[in-house]
Parts: sequence; C-alpha cells; structure tokens
Amino acid sequence: MKAAFIQETGLPDVIQYGEFPSPTPGPGQILIQTEAVSINPIDTYIRAGKIPMEIPMPYIPGCDFAGKVIGLGEGVTQFKEGDRVWGSNQGLLGRQGTFAEQIAVDACWAYPIPEPVKSEDIAAVSLVGITAHLGLFAEANLQAGQILFVQGGSGGVGSMVVQMAKIAGARVITTAGSQAKAEVCRSLGADEVILYKESSVADQLKNLAPEGVSVWWETLREPDFDLAVASMAPRGCMILMAGRDARPSFPVGHFYVKQCRLHGFVMFGATPEAQADCAKDINQWMSEGKLKARIDRVLKLSDTAEAHRLQGANTVENSGVLAGKIVLTP
Ligand SMILES: NC(=O)c1ccc[n+]([C@@H]2O[C@H](COP(=O)([O-])OP(=O)(O)OC[C@H]3O[C@@H](n4cnc5c(N)ncnc54)[C@H](OP(=O)(O)O)[C@@H]3O)[C@@H](O)[C@H]2O)c1
Repeated sequence: MKAAFIQETGLPDVIQYGEFPSPTPGPGQILIQTEAVSINPIDTYIRAGKIPMEIPMPYIPGCDFAGKVIGLGEGVTQFKEGDRVWGSNQGLLGRQGTFAEQIAVDACWAYPIPEPVKSEDIAAVSLVGITAHLGLFAEANLQAGQILFVQGGSGGVGSMVVQMAKIAGARVITTAGSQAKAEVCRSLGADEVILYKESSVADQLKNLAPEGVSVWWETLREPDFDLAVASMAPRGCMILMAGRDARPSFPVGHFYVKQCRLHGFVMFGATPEAQADCAKDINQWMSEGKLKARIDRVLKLSDTAEAHRLQGANTVENSGVLAGKIVLTP
C-alpha cells in the first residue's frame, strides 16, 4: 500500500510518500481502507519533533480517518466488513497514524458513519469536532442563553465551537481575520463577528457583551489573559487548549475576585468512552445537517508534505492561508 511517512523528525520535507507494509489488524483492531483523512496542527508539531511523545519509526502521521472496514482482528464484534467508519486519536501516544491507504485501528476509536454523510466531511470534523464537544459540554458545561466567545470562528476548532455552541442555544461571538472569513463565521451561525485586524476586540466585546462572556474559548497559541479575564462575566469559565510553549502574564487578582474558572485539556487525554459519547452527538448532528464540515481544500495523500506546510503556516505563523480543514484522499 501507499502511505505518507517519516523516518526522522524535522521540516515538512522529511515526509516521504511511497510503498509501506500493509498493517495486520491485531486483537481488538479493525483494518480500514481509508477514503479520507484530515490534517491537524498537532500532526505538524509531532512531525517537527516538538512534542515529547513516543512515535514508532518509520512513522505515519495523522490522527483523523474515514473509510471502509476490510478486515477484523480477533474479538471484534461491533463492526463487520463493509461498514463505513470514522475516528480520530491515531498517530498519538505510540499509535501509528492515518495518512495511508490502509490502517489498523483499535475498534474503540472507530464510529459508524451515518449513511448520508460523506467521508471527506466526517474526516474533516473528527478531531476538531470531538475537541469542541469535550470542551463545550464536559468542561465548560455550556448552557442555552449563555454568551460564548471563541477566537477564529472559521478555523478548524473555531468552526466546530461556533456550530456546537449554537446547537446548544448559546449566543456566539467570534473573531475573523477578513471579511470573507467573517462571512464564513456567519454562515456557520455566529451571531457577532469581530474583525480582529481592523478593530479592538476588547472595545467590541464591551459593546456586544457588557456583562461579560460566560465561556471564553481560547484557540490562540499566545493567549492574552488580560483581555480574556477583563471580558469574562463573573463566574465565567475559560477553555485553554493551545500554546504549549506560551508563557503569558496572568492577572491573578482579577481572575479569582471574579470567581472565574480555567479548564485546560487535550482531546487525546479523554477516554475512549468519553470520545465515543461525543461521536454519537456528532453523528446525529451531521446526519441532520446541523453540523457541517468546514473544508478549505481537498488534496491527495501524496501532497501530505504540502498539507503540513500549509497547516504550519496557518496555525503557527498566522498566515491566514486557510479557512477550515485540509482533507486528503488516497
Ligand atoms: N487541546 C486540544 O485537544 C486541541 C485540539 C485541537 C487543536 N488544538 C490546538 O488549537 C489551536 C487551533 O487549532 P485549529 O485546528 O483550529 O487551527 P487553525 O485551523 O489553523 O485555526 C487558527 C485560527 O486562529 C485564528 N487567529 C490567528 N491569529 C488570530 C488573532 N490574532 N486573533 C484572533 N484569531 C486569530 C485564525 O483566524 P483567521 O484565519 O480568521 O485569521 C484561525 O481561525 C492549535 O494550536 C492546535 O494545536 C488543541
């Protein structure tokens, strides 16, 4: 089979594309013929050797997948050959990744694809959708009527947070780097979009949410805690899930006097059961058309190095080149 893989960490150029031994499903695993995969910023950090995480060498990058079951390991009863499945959380914690024509995945990380949903769409939603669900509901306990703010509503995570917060009945304020991206945010359901390059987010929030926002979802790798804490409502909560190397200053007094809460999490830290619960809602919302994939472009698996360049430029260098996910097909 063909796969994208690396033999050493480094710049995107270390990614090769070529023949790779087909995997054999072990006990509890399913063998999947991939139909679509999608890239996430963490793929680029792992490829660059910036995350101290065990990886097999040679290593196939990639967390997300959608495809068809073509083989079953010992003891697998919940799937049969021919089932369409999606999932995430691969390529992490010693597991091989998904950017290959065939992958062997522990069945606990795979979910059925509802019939009307396309593989490209569900692959694009996988990691970012589970992340948004965990943060909004298990962490922030978002309630209808609350005001949620999220940075970058057209981004991978942002586009999921905007839509799921609307499904939950919240009022959603987000930011965008251009008018075109503001339109994307509105099409996803955002009530208010602040053009962060043209106006002051702090001033706009004072007008849009004078009592403060109940949930502040930070997606930036350099969080501005002065802005966030000043903009939060008393007893508000903040979701922190990006910026591994960031060492920002923090307004301690303002934070605790307002009795706010800070929730840090990584999606890959959630149990298979917790992630499967998220997947159930995602499947329902996708099949009802309430949750839509935000795909910027579709590339071929052989373009994995280019996908890494684009994702790194967007997330790390803030180039604004993407508005959503890059999906790759075999
Ligand atoms: N903890 C976890 O489990 C977890 C899971 C997924 C992702 N993450 C992390 O979350 C971060 C975001 O991931 P992603 O996939 O959403 O990345 P992404 O698709 O590259 O999105 C980045 C977003 O940031 C926005 N942005 C950049 N600079 C901004 C600024 N100064 N003010 C406001 N918005 C700004 C961009 O908006 P414009 O394009 O409009 O400029 C874009 O929407 C990454 O660091 C990733 O590693 C963590």
